[in-house]
Amino acid sequence: MKRGYPEPSPSTSLSPPQSRFKYNPEGDAQFLEDESTKIFARKVADHYSARTNQTLEEREASPIIHLKKLNNWIKSVLIQLYARRGDAVLDLACGKGGDLIKWDKAKIGYYVGIDIAEGSIEDCRTRYNGDADHHQRRKKFTFPARLICGDCFEVRLDKVLAADAPFDICSCQFAMHYSWSTEARARRALANVSALLRPGGTFIGTMPDANVIIKKLREGEGLAFGNSVYWIRFDEEYSEKKFKSSNPFGIKYTFHLEDAVDCPEWIVPFHVFKALAEEYELDLVFVKNSHEFVHEYLKRPEYVELMRRLGALGDGNQDQSTLSADEWEVAYLYLSFVLRKRGQPDRSQVNGGRDKGKMHLEKEDILYINNDL
Ligand SMILES: C[S@@+](CC[C@H](N)C(=O)[O-])C[C@H]1O[C@@H](n2cnc3c(N)ncnc32)[C@H](O)[C@@H]1O
Repeated sequence: MKRGYPEPSPSTSLSPPQSRFKYNPEGDAQFLEDESTKIFARKVADHYSARTNQTLEEREASPIIHLKKLNNWIKSVLIQLYARRGDAVLDLACGKGGDLIKWDKAKIGYYVGIDIAEGSIEDCRTRYNGDADHHQRRKKFTFPARLICGDCFEVRLDKVLAADAPFDICSCQFAMHYSWSTEARARRALANVSALLRPGGTFIGTMPDANVIIKKLREGEGLAFGNSVYWIRFDEEYSEKKFKSSNPFGIKYTFHLEDAVDCPEWIVPFHVFKALAEEYELDLVFVKNSHEFVHEYLKRPEYVELMRRLGALGDGNQDQSTLSADEWEVAYLYLSFVLRKRGQPDRSQVNGGRDKGKMHLEKEDILYINNDL
């Protein structure tokens, strides 16, 4: 399936912005935030914090269980494609640590996870310690870890993590769009990634596909659309379904996904993301809508086998259940991207602060940072 990023007509174009801020390699431009940005960031944090860990039975009963498994497959493929043994990994918006096992399989050497939601980072801690799943007590993870609770699109992480950097891989799964509420936050997000990755390091991620969302908005009648498992609603200010190219930030919609999300989110026009990332020396390797991603990587036997084991499309045996058409439509709302930090890897440079990580994390080991940093 060929992915298209059609050039919209001038009146509706989401073209790259004229920068209002000059890129500062040290990343110390002062960005002004208004109160509403903070309120929305808090709303997102509270939403995720309130989501408690599910039991295995609850998880399997979820109306989007196959979509969750499909998304885990996509993240696993991205990690297997780009992670190397011994890598230092920075997981931005790590949530409850749902990717810890994937990183363990890739035999990474060090892991730093950051999330704004206190409840999620605490769940991530217990999962790392091997206490989370009472059904399947698993063996300990093989890499040391550090966990941080804070807003990674607001805080200067280059300062917080100066002794831990450089990282070989930065991952931001299903979360980059929370940075797109203002240009300042989008820039902080990319400045953080750029400052902490080594030259040649990789930034992998998944986020909503703005082209698909806007296409669906324009195809439908009102300002809302969806199916049995999700809906998206835009505010009245977008009643003409046009978006100013002069400000491709802060285009808010509400996203509801059964048993998963109920949050304000922001449109990330991908060509703006790409252009802004380039300013921070992060060059695009690829972008693929999830549908294209699935079709492409299901051509490889090792990933077919992984899909069978994860069970996103059923397990190929007695299990008759599979991804529903409505779940497959939700998958279409997302894309995966890979960016590479410009420059040649410096073989003599050793990774910094792995000794800052621990093999068992107490509550006191979580670093709580506020936005003043
Ligand atoms: C859909 S969840 C994805 C979690 C995880 N990356 C995964 O794939 O399982 C989105 C996560 O983004 C986090 N998040 C949202 N805004 C954030 C911010 N400003 N700073 C750090 N984390 C944030 C939420 O708390 C939530 O854990």
